[in-house]
Amino acid sequence: EKGGYDYFMLKEIAEQPKAVADTLLGRIDAAGSLTLDEVRISPSELREVDKVVIVACGTAFHAGLIAKYAIEHWTRIPCEVELASEFRYRDPILDGRSLVIAISQSGETMDTLMALRHAREQGSKVLAICNTNGSTIPRESDAVLYTHAGPEVAVASTKAFLTQLVACYLVALYLGQVRGTKWGDEIRAVIRDLSQISGEVERVLDTMEPVRALARSLADKNTVLFLGRHVGYPVALEGALKLKELAYMHAEGFAAGELKHGPIALIEEDVPVVVVVPSPRGRSVLHDKIVSNIQEIRARGARTIVIAEEGDEAVVPYADHLIWIPATPTLLQPMVATVPLQVFACELATARGNEVDQPRNLAKSVTVE
Ligand code: F6R
Repeated sequence: EKGGYDYFMLKEIAEQPKAVADTLLGRIDAAGSLTLDEVRISPSELREVDKVVIVACGTAFHAGLIAKYAIEHWTRIPCEVELASEFRYRDPILDGRSLVIAISQSGETMDTLMALRHAREQGSKVLAICNTNGSTIPRESDAVLYTHAGPEVAVASTKAFLTQLVACYLVALYLGQVRGTKWGDEIRAVIRDLSQISGEVERVLDTMEPVRALARSLADKNTVLFLGRHVGYPVALEGALKLKELAYMHAEGFAAGELKHGPIALIEEDVPVVVVVPSPRGRSVLHDKIVSNIQEIRARGARTIVIAEEGDEAVVPYADHLIWIPATPTLLQPMVATVPLQVFACELATARGNEVDQPRNLAKSVTVE
């Protein structure tokens, strides 16, 4: 049932191109527009929305953090993202014009369920992004957009995360489409790029051998740090979470701009630092800033592991290890940048003799608060 793989996690990482393609299937029409009729919230209701609030836990929360960049950019609707376990305890401001998006692979996470119940009590509409048909979260929501990752068995979420991202992009682009923002042309272009993205994920998977070798060489380290900016920041958080849960190593993700406000004190001789570099084409200011961050930490002895877009020569002089990813539109980069981090964590767990599919102390679905 592991399809020839040693672990479900490896199988599920490999299934990502298909999971991504399946999640897009039937949702882009022949004219290149999105058709999300299955989402039972009407276009007129969606035009009324004046605030989006995303609630989720763990990896699904990281998908939500990325969704915020996409939603605010393409729709100009303010969007907040909150850990479901914190949400209802702070008396959040919600009303009938707030759209709450609950992201959950299992559809059974108690924290997320309680958050959505709270939102509905305030009169908000709840849209679930979920991977499990008929589970509690979609049943209790006003609408659901299913991810089609197929069953995810390994405790650490991989393919579900990529499909959650796809679903978030679909919602963001759809909101932009029905509300008609100034980004119409860009939205159409991104829909085209999104329909190619599964092939790009496949290309990344084909080049993972050096990442595995690198992971094995770091098996005796105690700490790994992850840096990113813009949508690369949640990718850094996700890379760190995967490493904690699988390799049982101390791992932290930071927004690269925060380095100088404290975390740079952690940089010492030979500490591995993974840096997710934004495209030099899109937000080029951010690209240049992160290149100087890499220079700074390397000057302090860090071992730099740089994930950068193919052809980004500017990073080469400062990278101890380079992981190339294909060029994508800025907001879609997490789709390809996350994959090497999954492989990295999985290989480190194996090298450290850990149980990959069943990390200690963790359960696949967390049905207690
Ligand atoms: C991490 C992981 C967890 C889940 C979280 C939410 O690899 O799997 O952090 O993402 O427990 O679970 P769902 O998405 O089922 O609500």
